[in-house]
Amino acid sequence: MHCVREIAEDLYWIGANDHRTHLFENIHPIPQGVSYNSYILLDEKTVIFDAVDWSITREYLENIEYVLNGRDLDYFVVNHLEPDHCSSMVVLFDKYPNCGIIGTEKAFMLMRQFGYHVDGHEQIIVKEGDTFSFGTHTVTFVEAPMVHWPEVMVTLDLTNGVLFSADAFGSFIALDGKLWNDDVDYDRDWIDEARRYLVNIVGKYGPHIQLVLGKAATVLDKIKIIAPLHGLVWRTDLMYLIDKYNHWSTYTPEEKGVLICYASMYGGTENAAQCLASKIAEKGFTNIKMYDVSSTHMSYIIADAFKYSHIVFASVTYNLEIYPVMHSLLEEMRMLNLQNRVCAIIENGSWAVKSGDLMASFIEDKMKNMTLLSERLSLASTLKPDKETELDALAQAIIDSMETVSTDPAATKA
Ligand code: FEO
Repeated sequence: MHCVREIAEDLYWIGANDHRTHLFENIHPIPQGVSYNSYILLDEKTVIFDAVDWSITREYLENIEYVLNGRDLDYFVVNHLEPDHCSSMVVLFDKYPNCGIIGTEKAFMLMRQFGYHVDGHEQIIVKEGDTFSFGTHTVTFVEAPMVHWPEVMVTLDLTNGVLFSADAFGSFIALDGKLWNDDVDYDRDWIDEARRYLVNIVGKYGPHIQLVLGKAATVLDKIKIIAPLHGLVWRTDLMYLIDKYNHWSTYTPEEKGVLICYASMYGGTENAAQCLASKIAEKGFTNIKMYDVSSTHMSYIIADAFKYSHIVFASVTYNLEIYPVMHSLLEEMRMLNLQNRVCAIIENGSWAVKSGDLMASFIEDKMKNMTLLSERLSLASTLKPDKETELDALAQAIIDSMETVSTDPAATKA
């Protein structure tokens, strides 16, 4: 049966939820599911903004048919062509052969590349600042390349203030009956998954997000609702979300806090990491998060690396190299462009302690704008009481360096 929600007058959410997919993009776990959002406007012309993942095509078509109530589909706007939004287009275009397609030049290139049958449909290529009227509603198109693919644009309905924001401002977590940001306690129940979604998928493209935020700032008074392609629709507190995006896209920590990532084979490195955490807390600083890199999906650690100001890398030496899972984590952080963090190192090795120097080289040579503390905890197999002074010095250095950290994105940009 159809399952649709009214967003504004003549505008409906026609997406669906997915709890069956376990790995988003076949890499990121989504234990709470995800929604694929699509929207339909009933004006003098009918228009759909983006489609959905193939897995929910049946529900999607039922929703469209219900809302159209016998009308034909006149236009389809492609804000983002990634298959989690557009793989159902093939069926949509077959079902509505008269529908015109509106998108950027790159979107049409990608549609052909993916094998979507656009030929035979009216093809309307739009660019930055173009407008289009569907009757009462006039929309304008804003290019948003690399947020998250090169063809992306966002569409602002100048009549009702709805911003169709593509991947931007989206989140993991299925809607499960909710729709609006104020239907939930976002800061308690959603922000961690919103962060994990954004930074793992688009984290690399912070400067591109900044460009879009800059464009949005010029029309902020016109934006009443943000309608992303995943997660909740925003109608209140838009600045809360924009502030989070400013942090993530400028690589500014949200909080002064210590993320301790440890890679331990037999517990010695884990014990050292725990002793450090305990020492930091004993000194009065308790905003600490710890992860075993071997047993935690990297996307969760990456998300907290974007959240906290400090990262401690604790790794055993393995074949005279950094332990592989820790090496992968460092590579992922580099790839996602993570920067502006204070880093510290715990190294371990039973017959050759190499991981510390190797991690230091990685942080200093391959990552940007990282501050590496000179204090280091070095152990052979297990931490012994004679390391108490080193441990204390590292904990103190971490706490002292909190003063050097800014959590203000404007300061990072300056
Ligand atoms: Fe939700 Fe970039 O696709």
